[in-house]
Formats: sequence, structure tokens, C-alpha cells
Amino acid sequence: MGPRGTPPGNPGPLKRGTLPGHEHIADPGLAELGDRRVQYAARAMPLLSSLAQRFAADRPFEGMTIAACLHVTAETAVLARVLRAGGARVALAASNPLSTQDDVAAALAVGDSIAVYARAGVDRRTYYEHIALALGPVGAGGPVGAGGPTAGAGPDLVIDDGGDLIQTLHTERPNQLPQVRGGCEGTTTGVLRLRRMAAEGALAFPMIAASDTPATRLMENLRGTGQSVIDGLLRASGILLAGKTVVVAGFGPCGTGIAEAARGLGARVIVTEVDPVRALDAVLRGFRVLPLAEAAPVGEVFITATGSADVITADHMAVMRDGAILANAGHFDAEIDVRGLADLAVAVVPEVRPHCDAYELPDGRRLLLLAEGRVVNVVAAEGHPPEVMDLAFGIEALALAWLVENTGKLSADVHSVPPELDADAARLVLAALGARIDALTPAQRAYLASWRLGS
Ligand code: NAI
Repeated sequence: MGPRGTPPGNPGPLKRGTLPGHEHIADPGLAELGDRRVQYAARAMPLLSSLAQRFAADRPFEGMTIAACLHVTAETAVLARVLRAGGARVALAASNPLSTQDDVAAALAVGDSIAVYARAGVDRRTYYEHIALALGPVGAGGPVGAGGPTAGAGPDLVIDDGGDLIQTLHTERPNQLPQVRGGCEGTTTGVLRLRRMAAEGALAFPMIAASDTPATRLMENLRGTGQSVIDGLLRASGILLAGKTVVVAGFGPCGTGIAEAARGLGARVIVTEVDPVRALDAVLRGFRVLPLAEAAPVGEVFITATGSADVITADHMAVMRDGAILANAGHFDAEIDVRGLADLAVAVVPEVRPHCDAYELPDGRRLLLLAEGRVVNVVAAEGHPPEVMDLAFGIEALALAWLVENTGKLSADVHSVPPELDADAARLVLAALGARIDALTPAQRAYLASWRLGS
């Protein structure tokens, strides 16, 4: 690590207020605080630390601009520093207006020469303005980083988290598309959007579905979301989970992790699903499975994790118990019909606790909505722990370098992370966790490869 914990290869800290982009962060004065937070996270991110060293030597992104739309948190900052170590100029916009850690934004802008466009709590218009700024000026001239204005007309690589940057790029910046070599998408929802674009022939460059590897599904969606959603729920509600009836809508990796974490704390968990195989999985793991209409009157806590819209509607809310808690873990705030809830209510008491609003219904019942229906583990807690993001971001960083190596060879489509890259990342994490595994012997390899050898 270099000065102030910046990865080797990064320039030293710059003087406060000298960089363009400072006007789009809350307070450059928070940089020192943010840097401490980033360094703390970096200690729990051994994969990224090893990549920082590798990239500092190999410089895979030399002279390139990477535009990223990510939650601006300490873990993201560690990734941004790794990309800088690899020679990239980095422009960063927030992927959620509520999750930005202003001190971290300041640390990156002031200490790392990263163009940061993120302030906690900005409105929707500013959110999209920030994304547009991260793409650089319209027309020639890309984002501005330590190296000054880029020579090209925008980003060479992109990292997205939900698809808003990609959408903005394709709809508002068609002139920049030819320069983009490709990018990574880190969420299930974003990957679905990309697939729809690719199916329509609208995607202009290859995108790697980084959320969708066996290793990330295990560590991020399943364990990371499972733990951190419960963390957000408990911070915002302050309830004892043991003995409560928790309804989890959606039994993908995220819903599975949430359901298992809730059960681990003593909750009785009901799962709702629309996919029979996922529902069967839930039943075989010992969960009760019900249609949401039947779970609505019995649940005490409801958590959505479907990636879909209008999952919990006003009809469900109308029959919920007094004090029922509603939280969303899916990427977008479309899963709980918040407007329907507001229409049902005669009064709203905001912030009965931080990130917990009470909606009073005509018959005196109160429903508690957490984080305004936005993603609860990010808004009310701190998102995933750094260990989880280490793997996810490590895979994204490796995938970007792989994209550069394969420039021009990949179709403008959604691609999976190559399995060997996922395995490499898992191996590095295992090593950091002190776990070692066996290797196949040549005889075992031959046995597994042959159809002649058998019983
Ligand atoms: P997934 O697509 O594998 O699973 C979603 C499940 O929800 C599917 O089994 C689907 O059949 C089910 N579903 C869809 N509509 C439903 C409905 N109306 N009622 C009940 N079930 C329904 O996705 P995954 O990976 O589990 O992610 C779920 C959501 O969480 C996505 O929006 C994803 O972007 C988001 N996510 C959130 C994270 C966080 O930190 N909060 C982390 C990773 C993903």
C-alpha cells in the first residue's frame, strides 16, 4: 500500500479543492474520515489487495477511462483504488441516492483523483445528472480525472449496478458507444435489463454478468444479502426477531439467504414464490410456502427479494396485522406499493425510528415501512460486509481486465464470467481465509475425462 492506504501506482494525495468534481460531493473536508473508513474496509478485502499489486505491475487499464455507477461506499472505494492502480482514470456516480457515504466520496475525490459525482440524499433529477456527468461531457472529451480531460469521447469501460448508467449511455450518448470496449453489471436486476437490451439488438458492446457466478451467488446474494438485510431490518425496527413470523417474497439466492438468516435468529419463516422449482427448494429446506394473499394476514415482518414490481400491494396491506413491518431487499423500490400504502393511510408519522415510517390506517392499525421501500440493507445498514464485496468486486476487476485482453473478440451481448476466472477469485479468497483444498491427481483427471473408464 502507498501513502494513506492508496494502492501502489496511485499518485499521492492532491491538494483539497484542486480537482473538478468536488462540487458534486457533499464536503471535501470529510476526506480524512472517509479514508480511515476505506482503509478499514480494505483490510477485510484481501482479493482486491492482491489485485491492486498485480494491476500496479501489469497496468491493464493504462490510459483508459472507467465510468462506474455503484453504491458509493468504502468497499466501492477500495475497488476504485484498484482500478486506478491498474492505470485507469475513474469516474464514479452513485447507483442509489440514499446509500452514498459522503466521507468516502470525499476521500476518493480528494485523495485519489477520482471524479466523484455523488451526494447522499440527492433527488432523482440530480441522480441522473450525476450519471451523465460520470459519462463525461456530451460530445468530445470524457470524464476528468487526475490525468486531466481524456482524449477520447467518454468511457472505455463501464461498471454498472442496476443498469441506469448503461441505459443513459445508450439513450443519451450514442456517440460514445463505439469507444466502449465493454463492461460489468453487478446485480441480477441489471443483468435482466441487459438481456432485454441484447434481445432487441440494442446493446452496443459486450457486458459481463458479474453477479451471476457460482462464487458470487454464494457469497454475495446468499450470505451477504442474507446477513445485511437482517442487519438493516433490526437497525431500523429494533425488534426481537426470535418468534416472529417473517414472510420472505422470492426464493432466489437473496430470498434464500434472508430466509435462512431470519430462521437462524429464531423467526418462523414463510416463503412466497411464483416459480415452482424455487418453491420446492424452499419446502425441501423446511420453510412454509404460501401465496402472499394467505401470508399477508399472518406475517409480522415482510421482506421482498424478487426483482419484480408490485409484489406487496394495497390489497395485501389491507389485511395485515397491526404493527406489521414492510421492507424491501430487491434492487428497485418497486416491490412494495408505497403509493398504495400512502393512499390507504389516514396519516403518516415519519421516522418513528431512523428509516422507519409509520402509516396509520383508518381502523387504527399501523404499518411500518422501512427505508421508504428502498433496498433496506443498503439504506438502513451498510450494505454487504467488505468480505462479500471483496469477492464481487474482485471478480468485476478481473472481468474488466479480461475484457481488455479480449477487446474485439466478444459479441455485443451479455456474457458470463469465464469459470476459470471465478475459480481463481475463489481460490484467492480461500487462501486469505486460511482454507486449503486438494487438487485432482493426473489419474483422477484422466478418469473424469474418459467415458471408457467407469464402473
Ligand atoms: P432471482 O431472480 O434469482 O430470484 C428472485 C426470485 O423471486 C425468483 O425465484 C422468482 O421466481 C421470484 N419472484 C418473482 N416475482 C415474484 C413474486 N411476485 N412473488 C414471489 N416471488 C417472486 O434474484 P436474486 O439474485 O435472489 O435477487 C433478488 C433481488 O435482489 C434482485 O432485485 C436483485 O437485484 C436484488 N439484490 C439485492 C441485493 C441486496 O444487497 N439487497 C444483493 C443482490 C441482489
